[in-house]
Amino acid sequence: MNRVYIKTYGCQMNERDSEAVASMLREKGYTILDREEEADVILLNTCSVRDQAEQKAIGKMGYLAKRKRENPNLIIGFMGCMAQNRGATLLDQLPDVDLIVGTQRYHHVPEYLEKLQSQRDEGIPKPSSIVDLEEEEGSQNEIKEHLEGSRKVSAFVSIMQGCNMACRFCIVPKTRGSERSRPIPQIVREVEELAARGTREVTLLGQIVTSYGQGVIPRKDGKGAFVQLLEEIEQIEGIDRIRFTSPHPRGFRQDLADAFRRLNKLCECVHLPLQSGSNRILKAMNRPYSREKYLDIVASLRRSVPDMYFSTDIIVGFPGETEEDFQETCDLFQEVSYDMAYIFKYSPRSGTPAAEMEGDLPDEVKEERNQRLLQLLHENSLRRNQSLVGSVQEVLVEGPSRKGDALMGRTRGNRVVHFPGQDRLIGTLLPVRVDRATVSALYGEPVISESAVAPEEVLSSTSAR
Ligand code: SAH
Ligand code: F3S
Repeated sequence: MNRVYIKTYGCQMNERDSEAVASMLREKGYTILDREEEADVILLNTCSVRDQAEQKAIGKMGYLAKRKRENPNLIIGFMGCMAQNRGATLLDQLPDVDLIVGTQRYHHVPEYLEKLQSQRDEGIPKPSSIVDLEEEEGSQNEIKEHLEGSRKVSAFVSIMQGCNMACRFCIVPKTRGSERSRPIPQIVREVEELAARGTREVTLLGQIVTSYGQGVIPRKDGKGAFVQLLEEIEQIEGIDRIRFTSPHPRGFRQDLADAFRRLNKLCECVHLPLQSGSNRILKAMNRPYSREKYLDIVASLRRSVPDMYFSTDIIVGFPGETEEDFQETCDLFQEVSYDMAYIFKYSPRSGTPAAEMEGDLPDEVKEERNQRLLQLLHENSLRRNQSLVGSVQEVLVEGPSRKGDALMGRTRGNRVVHFPGQDRLIGTLLPVRVDRATVSALYGEPVISESAVAPEEVLSSTSAR
C-alpha cells in the first residue's frame, strides 16, 4: 500500500515541488513509481495559469475517481496551484478525492497519507477528505529535498516562493502567495550537496527571481541580493553552469546584466517575460515597464554578452488587444529575435481583474495571432540553429537521446544537441561539432583532438573535473 505516482502539470516550479514531495515520501518508505497503473496513491500536482491546465487535471481526476470506485483502496489527491485556487469546491465535482493540499503545505503530504492509510486500516469505509490550504511561515524553506539515486546532471533549485506583482491576468499571486525568499547559505548548502552527488548545472527557480531577498538581504557593493546569490553559487566546485527563471524586466538592473560578463558559469541565456510589445497593453496588464525599457535591458545584456540567447513569455489576445497592438508585439519579437518563447492565448482567470475587463477576443483571433508568432519563432529558432552549424559547442551531456543510440545534451545557449557516444560521457562537458540543424535541435559529433592521444582518452579527459 505504499506505491505513489505523482503527475505534474505546469511549470518547472511544480516539477521541482513534485520532486521534493516524492523525496520526502521515499524517506518515509514509500516507493515512487513512474507509471500510475500499479500505484496505491496517485497525486496530481496542478497548474492554474490557464483554464486548459485546470481542465486537464480535472478530467484526469474524473478518470481516477472512476478507477477508485472499482478499487476503493486507491488514494487520490490534488496538490499545487489549482488545489490552492479552488480548495474544497473541487469536492463538489469530485467527491471521491481524498486529499487537497495547497502550495504552502506540500511538506505535510506524508503525514496526511499516513492519516488516510490508518483510517482505512481501522476499517473506516469512507474516511473524510483532507483539505489543507493554510499559509505557513517559512514554507519556502521546505522545498529542498532531492531524490537520491537518480543522478541528475541538471537540477532545479527553488530559491523563493510567491510574487508581489499584480499583473491583471495572473492567478499566481493568489495561488503562490506573497514573496518569501530562502536564505543564501541554505541555498548554497543545497547546491553543494547536489554538486557532491554529480549535478553539474543548476537552474534557480522563483516566480520573480529579480525580487529575491528584497527587503531582507541588503545590497552589498552595489549588488542586489540575487546577484550576491549568483556569486556564491559561482564559487561552488563541481557546478559548471548556472541558469535562472524567471526574472522580471522591472527588477533587471545593471548589476545583473554585468553578472553575465563577470560570472563564467552563468550561461548566456536569459528568459525575460515580455507579455506584450504594446505599451498600451502593457499598461492594461499592469506590467510596470515600456517596450523601450524592455529593449534597453536587451541592449545592455547584448553589450555584456554579444551573442546572448533570449527567450520569453507572451500572451496574445489580452482583452482589447488590437491588430496594431499585436503588430507591435511582432515587431519587438523580431527586434529581439527570440531563440525560444512560450506563447499563450489569453485565458480569463476568475478572481483576476482582467477577467472583468471588456473586449475579450474571439478564440479565432487569439489562435491566428498565436500561429503568426509561432511562425516567427520557428524562423528565428531555425536561423539561430543554422548559424551554429560548423561551430564547436560546449555540451553538457544529460543522458541518452530518444533518437536511437545517441546521447543528448545542451549548449550553454540551451540548444538541444544529439550526438553519438557512450553512457559514461553522461555528466561531462563535451566539445561537439555541429553538422546539422533543425528548428528544435542540433546534430553533431564529439570533437576528437588532433593530437596523438587515443580518442577514448580524449573523450574521458574532457570529463575531468
Ligand atoms: N513570473 C512567473 C509567471 C508565471 S505564469 C514566471 O515567469 O515564472 C507563466 C506565464 O503564463 C506568464 O508569464 C504568462 O505569459 C502566462 N500567463 C499567466 N496568466 C495567463 C493567463 N491568464 N492567460 C494566458 N497566459 C497567462
Ligand atoms: Fe504573475 Fe506577473 Fe507575478 S505574471 S507571477 S503576477 S510578475
